[in-house]
Amino acid sequence: MASLRSSLSLLLVVAFFHPTSSDDTVYDLVSFGANPDGQTDSAAPLLKAWLAACGSPAPATIRLPSGRFFLSRAAMNGPCNNRRVTIQMDGTFEAPSSYADSEDWISFDHVDGVSIIGGTIDGRGASLWDCKAKGLSCPRGSRSLVFCNSKNISISGLTSLNSKLYHIVIDRCQNVLVQGVKISAPADSPNTDGVHVQGSADVTIVATGIGTGDDCISVGPGTSNLWIERVACGPGHGISIGSLGKQSEEEGVQNVTVKTAVFTGTQNGLRIKTWGRPSDGFVKGVIFQHATMQNVENPIVITQSYCPNHKGCPGQDSGVKISQVTYSDIQGSSANPVAVDFSCSPTNPCSEIGLENIKLTYGNNAANASCKNADGSASGFVIPPSCL
Ligand SMILES: *[C@@H]1O[C@H](CO)[C@@H](O)[C@H](O)[C@H]1NC(C)=O
Ligand SMILES: *[C@@H]1O[C@H](CO)[C@@H](O)[C@H](O)[C@H]1NC(C)=O
Ligand SMILES: *[C@@H]1O[C@H](CO)[C@@H](O)[C@H](O)[C@H]1NC(C)=O
Repeated sequence: MASLRSSLSLLLVVAFFHPTSSDDTVYDLVSFGANPDGQTDSAAPLLKAWLAACGSPAPATIRLPSGRFFLSRAAMNGPCNNRRVTIQMDGTFEAPSSYADSEDWISFDHVDGVSIIGGTIDGRGASLWDCKAKGLSCPRGSRSLVFCNSKNISISGLTSLNSKLYHIVIDRCQNVLVQGVKISAPADSPNTDGVHVQGSADVTIVATGIGTGDDCISVGPGTSNLWIERVACGPGHGISIGSLGKQSEEEGVQNVTVKTAVFTGTQNGLRIKTWGRPSDGFVKGVIFQHATMQNVENPIVITQSYCPNHKGCPGQDSGVKISQVTYSDIQGSSANPVAVDFSCSPTNPCSEIGLENIKLTYGNNAANASCKNADGSASGFVIPPSCL
């Protein structure tokens, strides 16, 4: 019943965002001067089309025909004069392969009611990853697609490839749907997180496949009512709430659901990660339900002592309070003997952790569970046996 209700509400969200674009004025990027020769910069045509669509009092569609379109950068800002701008993509936007600066590649700020449908964005990160792999001093790199300070956003059917830094970022937004998206970068590409959400409420990520060199989905401070369902992760670092608690004053993370996720060969499965330093941040109300682990190094893991440069982390005590986290129906194989690892803060122990119907093995052998400063309860079958 609960799942029927959630599917119905999902359908309503989808129906709500579905553009009735037949009535829209359509701004075709080719008619604004874009050329699918892989060389002509689409920046000016896209900005002109954006200003026309955003300035239109009626709903409007920007169309990218098929072909490979070079795009140096696009910053599309609102507020707009209407609340339904659709970017219908058949083709591909290709970023410069050079990486002199690290501004966002395709960004939206202060928009309401923007949908991106279909298409491919290729961040062409290979030469920057190469620079980073050589240990040279390289720029951070551009994030590929960023929505800031926006609401009522939908990204569906998009493919995002080889970003220089994060692929998709949702920052200080409300009501965002990411659906049927594919994200891909090599396993050894640095900092290429799939979707990063922070400071945002009511974000839904469904039916999405993510394989990168970093987190599949990462969740930053100030996130609430996040719903993740039917997501496949791997390669990469898995789904991570955190890193949190770097700042002493920080917004918490509240009400996160991860449902029906498959992890293949990832470093982590379901992770919560905080800095081992003072903070007033918190994580409260997380449900991890129905996950399959295939050869995952750390299937279930809480670490509260993150401190990469070993500076400013007195006693490795994290101030972040973690409570009400439930793991239910998590099955599969761990690549390490310790399949369940709760390493919570000595001064702020984890509380109300729940384990229900867990079955994780270490290859064909038994796996272990390890608990430090973690309190909670177990029900149903729990293998390895709960240490809570
Ligand atoms: C957009 O979001 C706001 C809340 O931020 C909501 O009140 C409004 O109804 C939404 N509008 C549309 C068209 O979805
Ligand atoms: C938690 O978030 C979900 C969406 O992910 C929402 O439907 C639900 O109402 C939220 N619960 C609370 C108590 O806010
Ligand atoms: C893990 O479990 C194995 C048996 O499966 C046991 O020999 C080993 O000592 C355990 N290690 C830890 C760290 O608990």
